[in-house]
Amino acid sequence: MPNFLDIHTTSAEDLRHMIDSARAMKDARKGRSKGELDDDLPLAGKMVALIFEKPSTRTRVSFDVGVRQMGGQTMVLSGKEMQLGHGETIADTARVLSRYVDMIMIRTFEEATLQEMAEYASVPVINGLTNRTHPCQIMADIVTYEEHRGPIRGRKVVWSGDGNNVCASFLHAAGQFGFDFTFTGPQVLDPEREWIDFARSKGVNVEIERDPAKAVSGADLVVTDTWVSMHDPESAKERRHNLLRAYQVNEELMSHAKPDALFMHCLPAHRNDEATSAVMDGPHSVIFDEAENRLHAQKAVMRWCFGK
Ligand code: CP
Ligand code: NVA
Repeated sequence: MPNFLDIHTTSAEDLRHMIDSARAMKDARKGRSKGELDDDLPLAGKMVALIFEKPSTRTRVSFDVGVRQMGGQTMVLSGKEMQLGHGETIADTARVLSRYVDMIMIRTFEEATLQEMAEYASVPVINGLTNRTHPCQIMADIVTYEEHRGPIRGRKVVWSGDGNNVCASFLHAAGQFGFDFTFTGPQVLDPEREWIDFARSKGVNVEIERDPAKAVSGADLVVTDTWVSMHDPESAKERRHNLLRAYQVNEELMSHAKPDALFMHCLPAHRNDEATSAVMDGPHSVIFDEAENRLHAQKAVMRWCFGK
């Protein structure tokens, strides 16, 4: 079953195919209104369940619109309203849902929930974010980088801030797409060793640099994300803000990057915490293209899951 669970567990060839297919599908829709159907309808007759155990704007809307543009139908389910939150096992839920729907996209907390869903479902399962990874986001980010600047292979990407789930999927992408990756942030928020080792095992250069200005020097792309993720306890907020303040992406920090460097943020952002409005709305920023490209990238992922 072709699940899309993570970037490091999908082949580099298939990932490249999905990026190119996303860009082709985006081009093919130029000038059309959002509700218009694509010319080919790869999801015609398909029913897709979109399950959310955490809040979402982009993932929810882009998957819903994407399925419909490709001729399929969706149902959006909240984890709380399902029996999921009331004791029914994930394995049983996966087997039941597989009798009703042709594909499952799930945003959840524990990675184990996603893995169990994939193991027991007999339809493709897509990772819409867990505490540990966010692969669909990074597929959109690769599309975004390449449409603005060409191939990402060999470029230098710098992550400033929390070594969180989005950072993890960026490290996976570094290995699979062949770009160098520098993390700058406090040591206690370093990305997981396993992900750093994965990227290095693919021959790319991964650096940890505590000085943000040095880290950003020569960057082709600077990326950050919220300082407090949905799975982080509210009680950690003050400590995280204190730890991360020095890693804010502002105009001074961006001045150390290459003059044509891009700035990305998966959104939602806390303006003037992890990144200033001057950067988010400034000449380097491609944050709204990034948000749009969730749609195109995920359509390519879904096509791939159905072998198209
Ligand atoms: N970037 C992202 O996944 O946004 P949502 O949480 O709004 O889905
Ligand atoms: N790191 C963030 C990403 C949100 C899209 C979170 O997990 O809350």
